[in-house]
Amino acid sequence: MTNDLMAKIVSLCKRRGFIYPDSEIYGGLANTWDYGPLGVELKNNIKQLWWKRFVQGRDDIVGIDTALIMNPKVWEASGHTKEFVDLLTECKKCHQRFRADELQGACPNCGGSDFTETKKFNILFRTFIGPSERDANTAYLRGETAQGMFVNFKNILDTTRLSLPFGIAQIGKAFRNEITPGNFIFRLREFEMMEIEYFTKEEEWEKWFEYWRKEMINWIKELGVNIKKIHEVEIPEHERAHYSKRTIDFEYEFPFGQKELYGLAYRTDFDLKNHEKFSGRDLKYYEAPTPSGGRSPDRSVGKFWPHVIEPTWGVDRSVLVTLLEAYSEEKDRIVLKLPPKLAPIKVAVFPLLANKPQLVKKARKIYEDLKKSFMLHASGFMITWDDRGNIGKRYYSQDEIGTPWTITIDFESLEKDDVTVRNRDTMKQERINIKDLPDYLSKKLFSHV
Ligand code: GAP
Repeated sequence: MTNDLMAKIVSLCKRRGFIYPDSEIYGGLANTWDYGPLGVELKNNIKQLWWKRFVQGRDDIVGIDTALIMNPKVWEASGHTKEFVDLLTECKKCHQRFRADELQGACPNCGGSDFTETKKFNILFRTFIGPSERDANTAYLRGETAQGMFVNFKNILDTTRLSLPFGIAQIGKAFRNEITPGNFIFRLREFEMMEIEYFTKEEEWEKWFEYWRKEMINWIKELGVNIKKIHEVEIPEHERAHYSKRTIDFEYEFPFGQKELYGLAYRTDFDLKNHEKFSGRDLKYYEAPTPSGGRSPDRSVGKFWPHVIEPTWGVDRSVLVTLLEAYSEEKDRIVLKLPPKLAPIKVAVFPLLANKPQLVKKARKIYEDLKKSFMLHASGFMITWDDRGNIGKRYYSQDEIGTPWTITIDFESLEKDDVTVRNRDTMKQERINIKDLPDYLSKKLFSHV
């Protein structure tokens, strides 16, 4: 049943333009996927919601957008060139390679039981800068967005008025040469993450760790995820990343097992300290010895490396969990019960019959007017037009992609200047006067934002 659910999601994603296998015309590239027209809207809605909530909606966090290929010294200083490793083992019979920590019993490929000694495999993606592939030109595609925040710590201090505690946030791609990618968009070699490095005084780290733990739960609820399927797992020291003194994983009951959805780590002052050591630049914070605290332009007082709490969210895993939670099968239909704020398309407009010019004209005007009044002002608002087939097929089609409201213009509309608005989840229909439509939809839409 559960693998079945994954198969159904993968099939719906392909069929309806959410997610396609990458480079499909060349036979694809294993475990690599492309977001289609609806998938990119869903993904953007998730990212926008996150950005609004954690950057634009707050006074203590600023956003940045940094390079994917950074000075390779960044990855030496951060410890990734040495420590960003997975333990690899190989089946001696079929030569398939696996992550040793994930292998239980026989080889999942051929059933063999003889494996090589485990060895460390660095998952940083290597590349070369410039026209020569010499070691000296080796660079890395970033393995996490976090380092972009650490190397800009001083720039942020110099160009903003933030004082502790404060955060730097970023959404962007990361690359990892995963040994065993798979489970659709769960484990990818190229994926997106949303991260915050939250800087605080050392003595306050526990308070802020707890604060972010709760914020992460609130976010999960906001995505429409059943919180009963979330498990907070305290990661023991030997399994934690090299920089972390405490980590909690938020695991979700995926159809293929309980696995990490998001993570929360206490990175201490590890990164700032090491970047100061490797770069020779002063990356300390200077605190004014005044009763009100704050920062001092006088660089001789109260200097220290702030400690860091890092909540981190995978974008693709957010998309996957959202789809899994939203997917439902009812008697005569498949419905994606996405929270309206995440739905790729918010409203679909139909003329009851496509061959009646008066209906089409009226419906088209409503469609164009709504498009004008909402699209430019409400980010993530998408409206679509559909006049194919019969009304039943159109409902089916919109339900399957999670469109929360559909508007039908029928013969009564010509006389009474009203329309039918259908609710995706209840399938109930209401007649609404055309002049009241913008208000009606605003209330529906923004009560969900
Ligand atoms: N800066 C901390 C960090 O990178 P992480 O747990 O390695 O932490 C952060 O990654 C998040 O990125 C994870 O919680 C997960 O949601 C997502 N993630 C990690 N590896 C991934 C992969 N190979 N494919 C898709 N998402 C991944």
